Amino acid sequence: MTNKPNINEQQLLELAGLIYKHCGLNYTNNLFTLEPKVMRRLSELQLSCTDYIPYLKKNPGEWELLTQHITINETYFFREEAQFDELARILETYPVKGEIKIWSAACSTGEEPYSIGMTAQSIMPRLKQSVRIIGSDINQRVLKVAAEGYYPKSSLCFRRTSPEQIERFFDAEHNGYRVKPAVRDMTQFRRANLLDPSQLEPIGPVDIIFCRNVLIYFDDQTIDRIIQNFYDMLQPGGYLFLGHAESIRGMGKGFETIKSNQAFYYRKGVGNHGQVRGTHCG
Ligand SMILES: C[S@@+](CC[C@H](N)C(=O)[O-])C[C@H]1O[C@@H](n2cnc3c(N)ncnc32)[C@H](O)[C@@H]1O
Repeated sequence: MTNKPNINEQQLLELAGLIYKHCGLNYTNNLFTLEPKVMRRLSELQLSCTDYIPYLKKNPGEWELLTQHITINETYFFREEAQFDELARILETYPVKGEIKIWSAACSTGEEPYSIGMTAQSIMPRLKQSVRIIGSDINQRVLKVAAEGYYPKSSLCFRRTSPEQIERFFDAEHNGYRVKPAVRDMTQFRRANLLDPSQLEPIGPVDIIFCRNVLIYFDDQTIDRIIQNFYDMLQPGGYLFLGHAESIRGMGKGFETIKSNQAFYYRKGVGNHGQVRGTHCG
């Protein structure tokens, strides 16, 4: 029989503070949702919370395992499809320079970067340049799934994928589907914490950023830092896609807001060259 680890509010609060500092996830006002996640990790280690905090501080590798418990990795192919229609339009008209580099900045198990690749494939005859996609996430476990590119048929990740899309972009394998090599070959994965500029630097500069359904877990101060990083990493005239419940908060980041066909997204000004200016609606 295993002992059930105990945990008190003070310890949880301290842990929430460490998590916030490490990756921006803000559980400070949501201790009740943090508790079961931490309890699972404590049970695996058979440690009490009193022992766990010093253990975490002494073992930087433990962050990776804790992260696997505290991140929410829900995703699916062609999520917010109108944005992919816009992406297709942007790819066709983007100034020709040989390669368009697209970063899926919190890519989870890979459905978002692969949907980007499938969108590029679907306009291939009209695409005048190559497309390279980088998917990154803080959680190594989801990145491993992403790199495999294999998804069980029963997975909810296909909830918005049509039979035609399955036929065109996947190979049937056992009880699931594997993303076709043509799309996988466009896509690379790497671990990167959005709060750590030294981990982001090797990814940039990029032409288009997708960072969807992750800013909702951050507070305003963290969002400001991340948007500033995105601004710095984007090429002039580059595009930023956020989730439908997220925004750059109108805080003046030199982005133009574009609303088109039920999608909204942002474009970095062409002449700003790193200078932060006011946001306006296009
Ligand atoms: C809900 S998923 C969103 C996946 C995809 N972008 C989508 O919209 O379908 C959020 C992802 O953000 C990642 N994440 C959370 N904090 C992060 C951080 N500080 N740096 C990088 N990724 C982070 C999580 O691991 C998780 O996979």
